[in-house]
Parts: sequence; structure tokens; C-alpha cells
Amino acid sequence: MGLIVLSNREPYAPTRNDNGELQWTPSIGGLTAALDPALQHAGGTWIAWGEQHPDVTDVDLPTEQPRYRLKRIRLSDAEVRDYYYGFSNRALWPISHYFIERTQYHASAWRAYVNVNRRFADAAIAAYQDGDLIWVHDYQLALVPRMIRDALPNARIGFFWHIPWPSVEVFRTLPWDLDILDGILGADLIGMHTPDYVAHFQNTCRRALRADTSGDLVHWKGRAARIVDRPIGIEVDAYEHLATSPEVEDTADRIRRTLQTQILLGVDRLDYTKGIPERLEAFDLFLDRHPETRGRVTLLQIAVPSRERVDSYRQLRNQVEGLVGRINGKHTQGGWSPIQYIYRGVPRDELVAHYRAADAMLVTPLRDGLNLVAKEFAACARDGALILSRFAGAADEMPEAIQVNPYSPENLSDAMRTALQMPLDEKKARLTRLREHLRDSDLHAWTDTFLHELKLQDHGGA
Ligand code: ADP
Ligand code: G6P
Repeated sequence: MGLIVLSNREPYAPTRNDNGELQWTPSIGGLTAALDPALQHAGGTWIAWGEQHPDVTDVDLPTEQPRYRLKRIRLSDAEVRDYYYGFSNRALWPISHYFIERTQYHASAWRAYVNVNRRFADAAIAAYQDGDLIWVHDYQLALVPRMIRDALPNARIGFFWHIPWPSVEVFRTLPWDLDILDGILGADLIGMHTPDYVAHFQNTCRRALRADTSGDLVHWKGRAARIVDRPIGIEVDAYEHLATSPEVEDTADRIRRTLQTQILLGVDRLDYTKGIPERLEAFDLFLDRHPETRGRVTLLQIAVPSRERVDSYRQLRNQVEGLVGRINGKHTQGGWSPIQYIYRGVPRDELVAHYRAADAMLVTPLRDGLNLVAKEFAACARDGALILSRFAGAADEMPEAIQVNPYSPENLSDAMRTALQMPLDEKKARLTRLREHLRDSDLHAWTDTFLHELKLQDHGGA
């Protein structure tokens, strides 16, 4: 029995070096950060969009020690524009994060979404052998479970929705709401990060689709799909090991020596859901309210470019750059600038060194499916405090974090002060408890549990 995984984003992006050889660099984002180790653990076939060098079709990854086969789907420029930038990231992404005003519902984008979902489904159907488990991921591929189900009625199909599931009132603004629900309900087992998302999804099925639900089942088209909350974990041991390696410790010490101040850290894709402008404004307020901290605290924001062909993302980039300039212009004195802004992705070891160097981590999304950065920080921190938005899915699991409302600059500014003044024993005690939980529900447990439940699921009776 094999495993077939489908996602839009591929785990590694190829580039050619000067000798013309392909090099594979890890993609940045929560989905691939979780699924790559999961597939390395379980083995199998991973079907994804081959963005760069689409002429390369199949490859065994990771290149040094292959554990699974990546099958790369080639998309045309028009498909990328309408399916990826269009329907996925101008319709489903904003509506699921409650940004209705940023949505654009275009029928042409919807048609491209249907066609590309069909291409992914066909690739899975072609790769399928009797007894395989098929696991489809995320909002870009919501129609795929139904498309595979129609061709392979007895296949075991799992689906994981990695972003929030919004309230039915919001979801129903989507003109293709019923198609998306019907698509997902082609799966036997559907996973989401929190009980709230599951409750919203069930409610959406009842209200929009008029489907019956009982317990964790949704009855639809003569079948029963089971819907469960199963938040993703991280590879705690691997992060702890890296965090305490001499090289990472040295880099962390160097970061602290260079800045010579306390460090507030932000690490995000540059996405409007992450609350970066709100965080910067709150830091400005913090400096106004606590002038004695000037010269003694630095906000280090590392933001990796994301989805730059979508207007909302370009506007955000300008907004963030403007705010960094304004706040630095206002407070800079005697060789100290309050905000250090890094506009790129950094390699894993450098990222972990930053987690290790930080006095406090700012994870303050306006809305986030889960947020792995919060978990990575908790696994790696030396003795830092975690400030976490109540609107991140991970907040349910992390009561020891300082939880905040990112819409309130006063609340965020107070949390910064609390974090920077927290006694060492308290920070350490909180981190210990956070790590115990991370350990109990790590990434491999997530993968094994989901696949085990999928295998056992009785998909017959509705
Ligand atoms: P999302 O899924 O929305 O991208 P998550 O916080 O769940 O958000 O996951 C983001 C992943 O990408 C994490 O594994 C994090 O380490 C990584 N990441 C985010 N920003 C950066 C960055 N600037 N440089 C390197 N890695 C980053
Ligand atoms: C979130 C989504 C993923 C996506 C990632 C990065 O984690 O849930 O599906 O892969 O963001 O975004 P991108 O558009 O670059 O794949």
C-alpha cells in the first residue's frame, strides 16, 4: 500500500547553478514545512505544481537522501494567473481569513480553478494502485477529492484544510460555495486545525448544502465523510537539536552582540493576514509610552516575499516599508534604530539562531489557520517569551503564551512590556510546559494518526 499526496506548492524549488546542475531549495510556508518531513517519514508520491523548470517532471527527493518521488505538474501562465493568483489567492484565501473586502470573485478564475483541480485529480488517478491512500492538501485543491472519488469510488481519500474555515455567513458570499463543499466531501476523512473550524465547516454543510450531520460525520451523496480537528505539530527533536548545536549558538550570540539590545522578533511570510503593520504600529506606541526603552530594544522583522502578483500583497509591502521608514525616522538616535527589517527568507539554521537570540517572539496574525512559527519558537527559544494572537489556530494549544488581541495597539504594547520584563524563571517554566505539549503532539504523531484514521475509516454507510 502506497501514499499519494497532493498539494499546490512543491516542497523544494529547483534552480540551475553555474554548471547547469539543478539545485533544490526548500520552499517557504507552513504546508511544505510540515509535509516534507512527514513524507520523508512515510515515503510515497507527492504531486505538486512545478513552478520553475517545468520541463523537469519526476524527481526523487530530498536529493541527498531520497525518500519520496515528486511528480511535477506544469501549469500555463494563464492557469497560474487565474487558478493560483486568481481563485486560490484572491477568493478562497481572503474569504477564509475573513477579509471579504479583498476578495475578487471572477467566473474565469473559477473555471481555471476547476480545470487545474481536474489536472491534479487526473495525475493522482494515473498514479493510483489498489489499496493506496490518497491525501489531498489545502484550499487550492478543494475539488480534487470529489473528482478522484467519481473515478475511484473505493479509494481511501483524506483531505486537510490548512487555513481557517470561516463562519457560514462569510463562506456563503462565495458564488461557488456548494461546489467547494461538494468537492471536499468527496473525501472519507477531513482534517482541520481547530474545533472551531470543524464546527464552522459542519454548520456550513448543514446550512448551505442542507446536508445531515451526526457526531463528527457529514452525510452527503450516499456517503459519510468524517471531519476532525487535528492540529499539525513540528519535529520537536530536530528543532531542539539544531537550536543547541554549537554553530547555531554562535550565530545567536553574534546576533545579540551586533544589536546590543533586547530583541523582539517577527518571522512571517509577507501576508496581510499576519498583522505586520499592526505590530509595527504597536511597537511605535510602546516606544512612545516607554521612552526609557529607546536604545535598549530592537524589533527584528524577517519577512519573506509572497504572492507578489496579487495587489493586496504589493500594497502590503509598500505599507510595511513606509511604516519601517516612518518609525525609524521618528525614534532613531545615537546609532540605534528601533526596527531592523529583513525582506527575504532565511535558511533554517539562521532562522533558528534568531529564535534562540530573541527575548520575545511576536506572532500576531489577524487570522491564521495554525501558525508554525509559534511552535518552532517554543521548541528553539533559549529563554524568550512568546506573544501570540488569539486569532492564530495554535492559540488553543498554547495557553502559556502571552495571548493578545492584535487589533489593539494598547494590548500589544502592554504585552511587549510584560514579555520584556518577565522574570527568567517564569519564562523558562512557560517554555517547559509549551515544549511538553509540542512533544506530545509532534509532526510524526500528526501524520501517523491521520493516515491510521484514514485507513480505518469505514466509508460505506451514509
Ligand atoms: P504560513 O503557513 O501562513 O506560511 P506558518 O507560520 O504556519 O505560516 O508557516 C510558515 C513557515 O515558513 C514556518 O516553517 C517558518 O519557519 C517559515 N518561514 C516564515 N517566514 C520565514 C522567513 N522570513 N524566512 C524563513 N522561513 C520562514
Ligand atoms: C499557507 C498555505 C499553503 C501555502 C503556504 C505558502 O501555509 O496554507 O497552502 O503553500 O501558505 O504560500 P504559497 O502561496 O507560496 O504556496
